[in-house]
Amino acid sequence: MRILFIGDVYGKTGREMVEQYLPKLKDSYHPDAIIINAENAAHGKGITKKIYNRLTELGADMLTMGNHTWDNREIFEFIDDAKRMVRPANFPEGTPGTGLRIIPINKVRMAVINIQGRVFLPAIDDPFRTADRLVADAREKTPIIFVDIHAETTSEKLALGRYLDGRVSAVIGTHTHVQTADERIFPGGTAYLSDAGMTGPYNGIIGVERTAVVRRFLTSMPVRFESEEGPGQLSAVIVDIDEQNGKATHIERLLINDDHPFFE
Ligand SMILES: [Fe+2]
Ligand SMILES: [Fe+2]
Repeated sequence: MRILFIGDVYGKTGREMVEQYLPKLKDSYHPDAIIINAENAAHGKGITKKIYNRLTELGADMLTMGNHTWDNREIFEFIDDAKRMVRPANFPEGTPGTGLRIIPINKVRMAVINIQGRVFLPAIDDPFRTADRLVADAREKTPIIFVDIHAETTSEKLALGRYLDGRVSAVIGTHTHVQTADERIFPGGTAYLSDAGMTGPYNGIIGVERTAVVRRFLTSMPVRFESEEGPGQLSAVIVDIDEQNGKATHIERLLINDDHPFFE
């Protein structure tokens, strides 16, 4: 089974990149399943029902989220019915939504788990123990398990990747909006990448209009963050998984922007 995972879709530019390139990526890579991190899909902050519908219509089998899950309050109206969405599983008990979903893909089942880190992010439940629980649940149904670890530091992500090695098919990082070049398959068969990167404005600073961010660093004054204008970027990763045992057989990063053009 081949999974195409697209990193943090940011605002209109990110959505347009998905509209433009997802059909081409399907033609070139023939993924069996598509997973998209959509925590920034609505103007950089959360997601709306319309965007949820559009991304699933375009082919996303599952959307993952992160620390921006609740930024657009529209989510409270549809998250209970959003069968193709997971939010970080280690959000406190009583939080709407779920962090694990298992869906049919062709003739097998795929589990998708979303976990959020705790380093330089709000204090939430233990990502490692939460992962233990969810992975055990998922493994009763399928060996094909994809984990989106939404976290700030590479150390926390690597630690989770190593911790879950041999128990899940892939641990792929999101949140920093900058793609890392450390893709590999661990000895137990878990594909790993510290961060898939962002799908959004190429010339911003993690999506945001760059002069505002620079001004913030220069003055420490609060500034209004708007999406950067101009060309977009798409960041993604392909993971191939042996359907029999859930182990990864191949991992490949994808980056599309003005400096890394896409060749069909
Ligand atoms: Fe993000
Ligand atoms: Fe995030």
